[in-house]
Amino acid sequence: MLNYNPFYSANANNMKKSEIREILKLTGKPGLISFAGGLPAPDMFPVQEIEEISGYVLEKEGKKILQYGTTEGCQPLREELLKLMEKEGIHLTLDQLFIITSSQQGLDLVAKIFIDPGDIVLCEKPTYVGAIQAFHSYRACMHGIEMDDDGIKTDALEEEIKRLAGQSKHPKYIYIIPDFQNPSGITLTLPRRKALIALAEKYDLLIIEDSPYRQLRFEGESEPPLISLNSDRVLSIYTFSKILLPGFRLGWMAGPTELIQKAIVAKQAVDLCAPPYTQAIIAEFMKRGLLEKQIDKIIAAYKAKRNYMLNCLDKYLSHIPGIKWTEPKGGLFLWITLPEGLDATAMFMKAVEKNVAYVMGCAFDPEGTDRSTMRLNFSFATMDEIDQGIQRLANVIDESM
Ligand SMILES: Cc1ncc(COP(=O)(O)O)c(C=O)c1O
Repeated sequence: MLNYNPFYSANANNMKKSEIREILKLTGKPGLISFAGGLPAPDMFPVQEIEEISGYVLEKEGKKILQYGTTEGCQPLREELLKLMEKEGIHLTLDQLFIITSSQQGLDLVAKIFIDPGDIVLCEKPTYVGAIQAFHSYRACMHGIEMDDDGIKTDALEEEIKRLAGQSKHPKYIYIIPDFQNPSGITLTLPRRKALIALAEKYDLLIIEDSPYRQLRFEGESEPPLISLNSDRVLSIYTFSKILLPGFRLGWMAGPTELIQKAIVAKQAVDLCAPPYTQAIIAEFMKRGLLEKQIDKIIAAYKAKRNYMLNCLDKYLSHIPGIKWTEPKGGLFLWITLPEGLDATAMFMKAVEKNVAYVMGCAFDPEGTDRSTMRLNFSFATMDEIDQGIQRLANVIDESM
Protein backbone atom coordinates (compact mmCIF):
# COMPACT_ATOMS: atom_id res chain seq x y z
CA MET A 1 0.00 0.00 0.00
CA LEU A 2 1.19 3.51 -0.79
CA ASN A 3 2.38 5.55 2.16
CA TYR A 4 1.96 8.74 0.21
CA ASN A 5 -0.59 9.59 -2.43
CA PRO A 6 -0.90 13.12 -3.87
CA PHE A 7 -4.68 12.74 -4.13
CA TYR A 8 -4.99 12.29 -0.37
CA SER A 9 -5.20 15.19 2.04
CA ALA A 10 -2.12 15.87 4.15
CA ASN A 11 -4.04 14.47 7.13
CA ALA A 12 -4.82 11.23 5.29
CA ASN A 13 -1.21 10.92 4.20
CA ASN A 14 -0.25 11.16 7.87
CA MET A 15 -2.58 8.32 8.92
CA LYS A 16 -0.82 5.16 10.05
CA LYS A 17 -2.09 1.61 10.04
CA SER A 18 -2.53 0.21 13.55
CA GLU A 19 0.12 -2.43 14.23
CA ILE A 20 -2.26 -4.11 16.63
CA ARG A 21 -4.94 -4.54 13.96
CA GLU A 22 -2.33 -6.09 11.65
CA ILE A 23 -1.12 -8.37 14.43
CA LEU A 24 -4.65 -9.41 15.28
CA LYS A 25 -4.95 -10.77 11.75
CA LEU A 26 -2.03 -13.16 12.47
CA THR A 27 -3.56 -14.25 15.73
CA GLY A 28 -6.38 -15.97 13.85
CA LYS A 29 -3.89 -18.78 13.10
CA PRO A 30 -5.27 -22.12 14.37
CA GLY A 31 -3.67 -23.20 17.63
CA LEU A 32 -2.14 -19.81 18.37
CA ILE A 33 -2.54 -18.46 21.91
CA SER A 34 -2.95 -14.72 21.77
CA PHE A 35 -2.03 -12.31 24.54
CA ALA A 36 -2.08 -9.58 21.90
CA GLY A 37 -5.55 -8.04 21.63
CA GLY A 38 -7.21 -5.98 24.34
CA LEU A 39 -10.22 -8.23 24.24
CA PRO A 40 -12.53 -8.78 27.19
CA ALA A 41 -13.33 -12.41 28.06
CA PRO A 42 -16.37 -13.31 25.92
CA ASP A 43 -17.76 -15.64 28.59
CA MET A 44 -18.26 -12.54 30.75
CA PHE A 45 -20.77 -10.98 28.36
CA PRO A 46 -24.25 -10.98 29.94
CA VAL A 47 -25.87 -12.45 26.83
CA GLN A 48 -29.12 -13.57 28.45
CA GLU A 49 -29.74 -10.31 30.29
CA ILE A 50 -29.03 -8.31 27.13
CA GLU A 51 -31.39 -10.53 25.16
CA GLU A 52 -34.18 -10.04 27.69
CA ILE A 53 -33.63 -6.30 28.03
CA SER A 54 -33.44 -5.87 24.23
CA GLY A 55 -36.94 -7.34 23.93
CA TYR A 56 -38.18 -5.26 26.83
CA VAL A 57 -36.97 -1.89 25.49
CA LEU A 58 -38.18 -2.70 21.97
CA GLU A 59 -41.63 -3.47 23.23
CA LYS A 60 -41.70 -0.47 25.53
CA GLU A 61 -40.28 2.22 23.24
CA GLY A 62 -39.37 0.57 19.94
CA LYS A 63 -40.68 3.42 17.79
CA LYS A 64 -38.52 5.89 19.64
CA ILE A 65 -35.27 3.96 19.92
CA LEU A 66 -35.20 2.77 16.32
CA GLN A 67 -35.35 6.43 15.26
CA TYR A 68 -32.39 8.87 15.09
CA GLY A 69 -31.49 10.23 18.51
CA THR A 70 -29.96 13.46 19.76
CA THR A 71 -26.20 13.91 19.43
CA GLU A 72 -25.92 14.35 23.22
CA GLY A 73 -27.28 10.85 23.66
CA CYS A 74 -30.31 9.34 25.32
CA GLN A 75 -31.23 11.19 28.50
CA PRO A 76 -32.02 8.16 30.74
CA LEU A 77 -28.53 6.80 30.01
CA ARG A 78 -26.88 10.15 30.67
CA GLU A 79 -28.78 10.39 33.97
CA GLU A 80 -27.59 6.91 34.97
CA LEU A 81 -24.03 7.96 34.10
CA LEU A 82 -24.27 11.11 36.21
CA LYS A 83 -25.09 8.85 39.18
CA LEU A 84 -22.17 6.55 38.33
CA MET A 85 -19.81 9.53 38.08
CA GLU A 86 -21.13 10.88 41.38
CA LYS A 87 -20.01 7.64 43.07
CA GLU A 88 -16.53 8.28 41.67
CA GLY A 89 -16.52 11.74 43.29
CA ILE A 90 -17.21 13.48 39.98
CA HIS A 91 -20.02 16.01 40.27
CA LEU A 92 -21.49 16.87 36.90
CA THR A 93 -24.59 18.37 35.37
CA LEU A 94 -26.27 16.97 32.28
CA ASP A 95 -24.64 19.51 29.96
CA GLN A 96 -21.20 18.28 31.11
CA LEU A 97 -21.61 14.73 29.81
CA PHE A 98 -22.57 13.22 26.47
CA ILE A 99 -22.60 9.82 24.82
CA ILE A 100 -19.89 8.90 22.34
CA THR A 101 -19.60 5.97 19.97
CA SER A 102 -17.01 4.47 22.32
CA SER A 103 -13.82 6.02 23.62
CA GLN A 104 -11.98 5.69 20.33
CA GLN A 105 -14.43 8.22 18.94
CA GLY A 106 -13.76 10.38 21.99
CA LEU A 107 -10.06 10.43 21.09
CA ASP A 108 -10.84 11.37 17.51
CA LEU A 109 -13.20 14.17 18.62
CA VAL A 110 -10.59 15.53 21.01
CA ALA A 111 -8.02 15.70 18.23
CA LYS A 112 -10.58 17.16 15.85
CA ILE A 113 -11.43 20.08 18.16
CA PHE A 114 -7.95 20.85 19.50
CA ILE A 115 -5.29 19.87 16.98
CA ASP A 116 -3.95 21.96 14.15
CA PRO A 117 -1.22 20.33 12.06
CA GLY A 118 2.07 20.35 13.96
CA ASP A 119 0.47 20.92 17.40
CA ILE A 120 2.16 19.18 20.28
CA VAL A 121 0.51 16.59 22.51
CA LEU A 122 2.31 15.40 25.63
CA CYS A 123 1.65 11.81 26.66
CA GLU A 124 3.02 8.89 28.60
CA LYS A 125 5.70 6.77 26.97
CA PRO A 126 4.44 4.15 26.28
CA THR A 127 0.87 5.13 25.47
CA TYR A 128 -2.25 3.66 23.88
CA VAL A 129 -1.66 2.86 20.22
CA GLY A 130 -5.18 3.94 19.20
CA ALA A 131 -4.53 7.41 20.64
CA ILE A 132 -1.29 7.69 18.69
CA GLN A 133 -3.24 6.74 15.58
CA ALA A 134 -6.12 9.15 16.25
CA PHE A 135 -3.88 12.12 17.08
CA HIS A 136 -1.49 11.44 14.20
CA SER A 137 -4.33 11.51 11.73
CA TYR A 138 -4.79 15.20 12.61
CA ARG A 139 -1.01 15.63 12.31
CA ALA A 140 -0.31 16.11 16.00
CA CYS A 141 3.32 15.72 17.17
CA MET A 142 3.33 13.43 20.16
CA HIS A 143 6.04 13.88 22.77
CA GLY A 144 6.28 10.84 25.04
CA ILE A 145 7.36 11.34 28.66
CA GLU A 146 9.02 8.47 30.53
CA MET A 147 7.09 6.58 33.18
CA ASP A 148 8.15 4.72 36.30
CA ASP A 149 6.16 2.55 38.71
CA ASP A 150 4.26 5.67 39.88
CA GLY A 151 3.13 6.68 36.39
CA ILE A 152 4.26 9.55 34.20
CA LYS A 153 7.36 11.29 35.61
CA THR A 154 6.01 14.74 36.37
CA ASP A 155 9.52 16.22 36.77
CA ALA A 156 10.38 15.13 33.26
CA LEU A 157 7.02 16.44 32.09
CA GLU A 158 7.76 19.87 33.53
CA GLU A 159 11.21 19.88 31.93
CA GLU A 160 9.65 19.14 28.56
CA ILE A 161 7.02 21.88 29.00
CA LYS A 162 9.82 24.35 29.85
CA ARG A 163 11.99 23.16 26.97
CA LEU A 164 9.08 23.70 24.58
CA ALA A 165 8.32 27.10 26.11
CA GLY A 166 11.94 28.02 25.35
CA GLN A 167 11.04 27.47 21.69
CA SER A 168 7.77 29.43 22.14
CA LYS A 169 5.77 26.21 21.84
CA HIS A 170 2.76 25.45 24.00
CA PRO A 171 1.38 21.86 24.01
CA LYS A 172 -2.30 21.57 23.19
CA TYR A 173 -3.02 18.99 25.87
CA ILE A 174 -1.57 16.23 28.03
CA TYR A 175 -3.05 12.82 27.21
CA ILE A 176 -3.06 10.46 30.20
CA ILE A 177 -4.44 7.01 31.04
CA PRO A 178 -4.17 7.24 34.83
CA ASP A 179 -5.57 3.85 35.89
CA PHE A 180 -4.10 0.47 34.88
CA GLN A 181 -2.65 2.11 31.86
CA ASN A 182 -2.74 0.53 28.44
CA PRO A 183 -0.15 -0.83 27.77
CA SER A 184 1.87 -0.81 31.01
CA GLY A 185 -0.77 -1.65 33.63
CA ILE A 186 0.67 1.15 35.80
CA THR A 187 -1.55 3.44 37.91
CA LEU A 188 -0.69 7.08 38.52
CA THR A 189 -0.15 7.64 42.26
CA LEU A 190 -1.94 10.39 44.19
CA PRO A 191 1.14 12.64 44.59
CA ARG A 192 1.77 12.37 40.84
CA ARG A 193 -1.91 13.14 40.12
CA LYS A 194 -1.63 16.26 42.24
CA ALA A 195 1.65 17.22 40.60
CA LEU A 196 0.13 16.74 37.16
CA ILE A 197 -2.85 18.96 37.98
CA ALA A 198 -0.49 21.56 39.49
CA LEU A 199 1.53 21.58 36.24
CA ALA A 200 -1.63 21.96 34.17
CA GLU A 201 -2.61 24.95 36.31
CA LYS A 202 0.86 26.51 36.35
CA TYR A 203 1.39 26.23 32.59
CA ASP A 204 -2.25 26.64 31.51
CA LEU A 205 -2.66 23.18 30.00
CA LEU A 206 -5.62 20.94 29.36
CA ILE A 207 -5.62 17.27 30.39
CA ILE A 208 -7.34 14.49 28.48
CA GLU A 209 -8.01 11.65 30.92
CA ASP A 210 -8.73 8.34 29.18
CA SER A 211 -10.28 5.92 31.66
CA PRO A 212 -11.42 2.61 30.18
CA TYR A 213 -10.03 0.48 33.02
CA ARG A 214 -10.63 2.59 36.13
CA GLN A 215 -13.55 0.53 37.44
CA LEU A 216 -11.63 -2.74 37.05
CA ARG A 217 -9.59 -2.51 40.26
CA PHE A 218 -8.71 -5.88 41.81
CA GLU A 219 -7.32 -4.63 45.13
CA GLY A 220 -6.39 -1.53 47.10
CA GLU A 221 -8.00 1.88 47.16
CA SER A 222 -8.86 3.87 44.05
CA GLU A 223 -7.02 7.11 43.45
CA PRO A 224 -9.24 10.11 42.67
CA PRO A 225 -9.99 10.64 38.98
CA LEU A 226 -8.10 13.63 37.56
CA ILE A 227 -11.36 15.35 36.66
CA SER A 228 -12.36 15.33 40.34
CA LEU A 229 -9.15 17.22 41.18
CA ASN A 230 -9.81 20.02 38.71
CA SER A 231 -13.04 20.02 36.75
CA ASP A 232 -12.05 23.08 34.65
CA ARG A 233 -8.96 21.56 33.06
CA VAL A 234 -9.79 17.92 32.54
CA LEU A 235 -11.82 16.26 29.83
CA SER A 236 -12.51 12.61 30.69
CA ILE A 237 -13.32 9.77 28.34
CA TYR A 238 -15.02 6.58 29.55
CA THR A 239 -16.29 3.48 27.77
CA PHE A 240 -18.56 0.48 28.29
CA SER A 241 -16.15 -1.67 26.26
CA LYS A 242 -14.22 -3.20 29.16
CA ILE A 243 -16.80 -2.99 31.95
CA LEU A 244 -19.70 -4.42 29.95
CA LEU A 245 -19.14 -5.19 26.26
CA PRO A 246 -17.35 -3.55 23.34
CA GLY A 247 -19.85 -4.64 20.69
CA PHE A 248 -22.31 -1.80 21.37
CA ARG A 249 -19.55 0.77 20.77
CA LEU A 250 -20.74 3.11 23.51
CA GLY A 251 -18.94 5.39 25.93
CA TRP A 252 -19.20 8.87 27.38
CA MET A 253 -17.22 12.06 27.66
CA ALA A 254 -17.33 14.43 30.64
CA GLY A 255 -15.78 17.81 31.25
CA PRO A 256 -16.26 21.58 31.23
CA THR A 257 -19.58 22.55 29.60
CA GLU A 258 -18.00 24.65 26.88
CA LEU A 259 -15.64 21.88 25.73
CA ILE A 260 -18.40 19.28 25.88
CA GLN A 261 -20.65 21.47 23.74
CA LYS A 262 -17.85 21.86 21.19
CA ALA A 263 -17.23 18.11 21.12
CA ILE A 264 -20.98 17.52 20.55
CA VAL A 265 -20.88 19.82 17.51
CA ALA A 266 -17.83 17.89 16.24
CA LYS A 267 -19.70 14.58 16.72
CA GLN A 268 -22.70 15.86 14.72
CA ALA A 269 -20.55 15.86 11.60
CA VAL A 270 -19.15 12.40 12.31
CA ASP A 271 -22.18 10.19 12.95
CA LEU A 272 -25.10 12.43 14.07
CA CYS A 273 -25.67 10.28 17.15
CA ALA A 274 -24.66 7.06 18.89
CA PRO A 275 -27.22 4.26 18.36
CA PRO A 276 -30.33 4.98 20.47
CA TYR A 277 -31.27 1.28 20.62
CA THR A 278 -28.11 0.10 22.36
CA GLN A 279 -28.13 3.21 24.58
CA ALA A 280 -31.63 2.26 25.75
CA ILE A 281 -30.48 -1.29 26.53
CA ILE A 282 -27.56 -0.08 28.66
CA ALA A 283 -29.73 2.54 30.40
CA GLU A 284 -32.15 -0.23 31.42
CA PHE A 285 -29.25 -2.52 32.39
CA MET A 286 -27.93 0.19 34.69
CA LYS A 287 -31.39 1.08 36.05
CA ARG A 288 -31.79 -2.53 37.16
CA GLY A 289 -28.50 -2.34 39.06
CA LEU A 290 -26.89 -4.93 36.79
CA LEU A 291 -23.77 -2.94 35.87
CA GLU A 292 -22.31 -3.05 39.40
CA LYS A 293 -22.87 -6.84 39.47
CA GLN A 294 -21.30 -7.17 36.04
CA ILE A 295 -18.22 -5.20 37.11
CA ASP A 296 -17.87 -7.34 40.26
CA LYS A 297 -18.04 -10.48 38.13
CA ILE A 298 -15.40 -9.18 35.71
CA ILE A 299 -13.10 -8.10 38.53
CA ALA A 300 -13.23 -11.56 40.13
CA ALA A 301 -12.48 -13.30 36.82
CA TYR A 302 -9.68 -10.97 35.68
CA LYS A 303 -8.07 -10.90 39.11
CA ALA A 304 -7.81 -14.70 39.01
CA LYS A 305 -6.32 -14.53 35.52
CA ARG A 306 -3.89 -11.76 36.48
CA ASN A 307 -2.74 -13.85 39.45
CA TYR A 308 -2.37 -16.90 37.28
CA MET A 309 -0.39 -15.09 34.62
CA LEU A 310 1.94 -13.61 37.27
CA ASN A 311 2.48 -17.13 38.69
CA CYS A 312 3.26 -18.47 35.23
CA LEU A 313 5.70 -15.62 34.58
CA ASP A 314 7.45 -16.44 37.85
CA LYS A 315 7.52 -20.13 37.01
CA TYR A 316 8.70 -19.95 33.40
CA LEU A 317 10.49 -16.62 32.94
CA SER A 318 12.17 -15.68 36.20
CA HIS A 319 15.40 -17.58 35.27
CA ILE A 320 16.02 -15.00 32.52
CA PRO A 321 18.53 -12.48 33.90
CA GLY A 322 17.37 -8.86 33.75
CA ILE A 323 13.80 -9.55 32.66
CA LYS A 324 11.03 -7.71 34.53
CA TRP A 325 7.31 -7.20 34.37
CA THR A 326 4.70 -4.95 35.96
CA GLU A 327 2.18 -6.30 38.48
CA PRO A 328 -0.98 -4.31 37.70
CA LYS A 329 -3.65 -3.95 40.37
CA GLY A 330 -6.41 -3.96 37.78
CA GLY A 331 -7.22 -3.64 34.10
CA LEU A 332 -6.33 -6.03 31.30
CA PHE A 333 -2.59 -5.75 30.65
CA LEU A 334 0.88 -6.24 31.98
CA TRP A 335 4.13 -5.08 30.49
CA ILE A 336 7.37 -7.02 30.10
CA THR A 337 10.78 -5.42 29.74
CA LEU A 338 13.31 -7.80 28.19
CA PRO A 339 16.98 -8.05 29.17
CA GLU A 340 19.29 -5.75 27.25
CA GLY A 341 20.07 -6.90 23.75
CA LEU A 342 16.79 -8.73 23.20
CA ASP A 343 14.45 -7.35 20.59
CA ALA A 344 10.71 -7.90 21.08
CA THR A 345 9.96 -6.69 17.55
CA ALA A 346 12.41 -9.11 15.91
CA MET A 347 11.18 -11.92 18.15
CA PHE A 348 7.54 -11.48 17.23
CA MET A 349 7.47 -13.70 14.11
CA LYS A 350 9.31 -16.45 16.01
CA ALA A 351 6.64 -16.22 18.68
CA VAL A 352 3.89 -16.56 16.08
CA GLU A 353 5.71 -19.60 14.64
CA LYS A 354 5.62 -21.09 18.15
CA ASN A 355 1.92 -20.22 18.36
CA VAL A 356 1.98 -17.43 20.88
CA ALA A 357 1.40 -13.70 20.26
CA TYR A 358 1.95 -10.45 22.14
CA VAL A 359 2.11 -6.83 21.06
CA MET A 360 5.62 -5.44 20.67
CA GLY A 361 6.32 -2.30 22.69
CA CYS A 362 7.22 -0.21 19.64
CA ALA A 363 3.50 -0.02 18.77
CA PHE A 364 2.96 2.01 21.94
CA ASP A 365 5.99 4.22 21.62
CA PRO A 366 5.06 7.64 20.17
CA GLU A 367 8.46 7.64 18.43
CA GLY A 368 8.13 3.96 17.47
CA THR A 369 11.69 3.09 18.47
CA ASP A 370 11.32 1.00 21.65
CA ARG A 371 12.45 -2.59 20.93
CA SER A 372 12.78 -4.05 24.42
CA THR A 373 9.21 -4.33 25.66
CA MET A 374 6.01 -6.23 25.04
CA ARG A 375 2.40 -6.04 26.22
CA LEU A 376 0.52 -9.10 27.43
CA ASN A 377 -3.24 -9.21 27.83
CA PHE A 378 -4.52 -11.51 30.59
CA SER A 379 -8.31 -11.13 30.22
CA PHE A 380 -8.94 -13.11 27.03
CA ALA A 381 -7.03 -16.40 27.24
CA THR A 382 -8.25 -19.26 29.43
CA MET A 383 -6.13 -20.40 32.40
CA ASP A 384 -4.82 -23.39 30.42
CA GLU A 385 -3.92 -21.13 27.53
CA ILE A 386 -2.15 -18.73 29.89
CA ASP A 387 0.03 -21.57 31.19
CA GLN A 388 0.78 -22.96 27.72
CA GLY A 389 1.25 -19.53 26.18
CA ILE A 390 3.73 -18.31 28.81
CA GLN A 391 5.70 -21.57 28.43
CA ARG A 392 5.88 -20.95 24.68
CA LEU A 393 6.93 -17.35 25.25
CA ALA A 394 9.68 -18.53 27.61
CA ASN A 395 10.93 -20.86 24.85
CA VAL A 396 11.01 -18.04 22.34
CA ILE A 397 12.97 -15.79 24.71
CA ASP A 398 15.36 -18.57 25.72
CA GLU A 399 16.10 -19.35 22.08
CA SER A 400 16.69 -15.67 21.30
CA MET A 401 19.26 -15.23 24.08
C1 LIG B 1 -6.65 3.56 26.70
C2 LIG B 1 -7.70 3.20 25.71
N1 LIG B 1 -8.46 4.17 25.19
C3 LIG B 1 -9.41 3.90 24.29
C4 LIG B 1 -9.66 2.61 23.87
C5 LIG B 1 -10.73 2.36 22.85
O1 LIG B 1 -11.76 1.59 23.36
P1 LIG B 1 -13.26 1.68 22.88
O2 LIG B 1 -13.31 2.48 21.63
O3 LIG B 1 -13.69 0.27 22.69
O4 LIG B 1 -14.02 2.35 23.98
C6 LIG B 1 -8.90 1.56 24.39
C7 LIG B 1 -9.11 0.18 23.93
O5 LIG B 1 -8.41 -0.75 24.22
C8 LIG B 1 -7.89 1.87 25.34
O6 LIG B 1 -7.13 0.92 25.89
